[in-house]
Parts: sequence; C-alpha cells; structure tokens
Amino acid sequence: MSSKITPATLRAMKTRGDKIAALTAYDFPMAKLLDECGVPLLLVGDSLGMVVLGHPDTTHVTLADMEHHVRAAARAKPVALLGGDLPFESYLTVECAVANARKLVAAGAEFVKAEGGREILPQVQAIVAAGIPFCGHLGMLPQHVLEEGGYKIKGKTEAEHARLLADAQALADAGAFAIVLELVTPPVARELSQRLAIPTIGIGSGPDCDGQILVTPDLLGTFPWFTPKFVQPHLNAAAQMRTAVQEWRTTLAKTPTS
Ligand code: KIV
Repeated sequence: MSSKITPATLRAMKTRGDKIAALTAYDFPMAKLLDECGVPLLLVGDSLGMVVLGHPDTTHVTLADMEHHVRAAARAKPVALLGGDLPFESYLTVECAVANARKLVAAGAEFVKAEGGREILPQVQAIVAAGIPFCGHLGMLPQHVLEEGGYKIKGKTEAEHARLLADAQALADAGAFAIVLELVTPPVARELSQRLAIPTIGIGSGPDCDGQILVTPDLLGTFPWFTPKFVQPHLNAAAQMRTAVQEWRTTLAKTPTS
C-alpha cells in the first residue's frame, strides 16, 4: 500500500519533475476508482454543480452540496490527497472563509480550494493560520462566469500577465501549497510554473504546468452534452452506457413471462 499523499508529496513531485495527475471526484465509487488508479490528487470540485447536479454554472452550488459530496468521496479513504472547493460566496469574509473551510474539513476534506488572488488574501491567510491546507485557483474563475460573460482565456494582455504573476506570488507567500491555473495562456502558465516553488496544476493552460487536472466526466465521457475544447476524452462512457442499456432493454423485451 502506498503512503498517504500530502502537500509535501506534491511539492517533492514538482522538485523531481514528476507530473502531478489530478482529477475531480464527487462520490464514493469515483474517489475509490481513481485512488485505485494511483491518482495522487483528488478534488471534489464545485464543477459538480454542472456535471452532477445539472446546473448551468457553478454559482448554484451550496456549501451543503459540497459537504454532502466531500463526505461521500472521503468514505473512500483515499491514499490521494482529497480536497473540496469552497463554493460561490462562501468565503466573502475572513470569518465565513474559516468557518466554511472547517465544515469541509469536518466532512473529510484534507485541503480546501478557493478562486481568486490578492482580493481574497486575508481569507487565504486565515485559512492557512487555522491549519487548513489551501490550494489557490487563478486564471479563468468559473464562479465569476456571470460577471465575465463567459469562460475567457487569461494572460493575453500585459495587464493580465502582471496580475497573474502578482496574484500567484501572493498566494504562495500566504502559504498556498499549490495553485490551479485555469485557461491561462501556455507561455504565462509556463512562466508561473518556473517562478513558483509550489506546484501549478493546469487545466486548459498548456503542457508546462507541474500537473494537470481534469473534470473526470470530461475525461471519461460521462457528460456527453458538453466537452471543453482542450480535453481529449479517453473513453466514451455515455455511448457504452447507451448501448448497454439498449441491449438490456432488447433482451428484456424478448424474455417471455413464465
Ligand atoms: O470545480 C472544479 O472541478 C475545479 C477544477 C476544474 C480545477 O475547480
């Protein structure tokens, strides 16, 4: 049995140049399966709002939703480091951020993630001071999709580039153990990965991050109604499920009643 993954394990992987594989898991079987595959970093992402709960974006996810799904994933007792997202508007103040991070930890999260840079620095510092490992999230911030009017690539302008560098360094200085970079231009993601001592985990940000995270239904094809452009699915599970269900129905229809 492998030893438990911690933030220090991920830092050591960066130092060795070992790529960090990360995937989302929203329930017990997926967390257990991914852990059995040796994925070292699992996230109960608030993407669950879209790919599990059927909302149009992540702003509908509540802390109760997150606690429920973190509890389910944590029952897998993964070797992987398991984290949970602080959902939309759950970390507006320092007090809320710490109280809600503690609730996710009580549900089984071993770290929490929140979206933003210097604008949430007091919350990040307070979460770290409370002894809760914190993962940052910069670039395209899905919880801001309504204000932004879409999922836009970040780092294209000099102002965005400078902002990303300053935000990433501020999060690292505040004690974040890793930072997710979502839809950041590949050259800027590479520069951030080279400058920071902590691992960067990219999603749609090119190949040069220290690790990559995907929304697992995108990788496995269990949410066939939308797949982001940057994802190459490795399975079309929805097609296989449809075939299996049709075959079962056909067999059932042919089975005589005894
Ligand atoms: O919510 C989520 O699943 C995420 C990952 C895509 C990084 O934040």
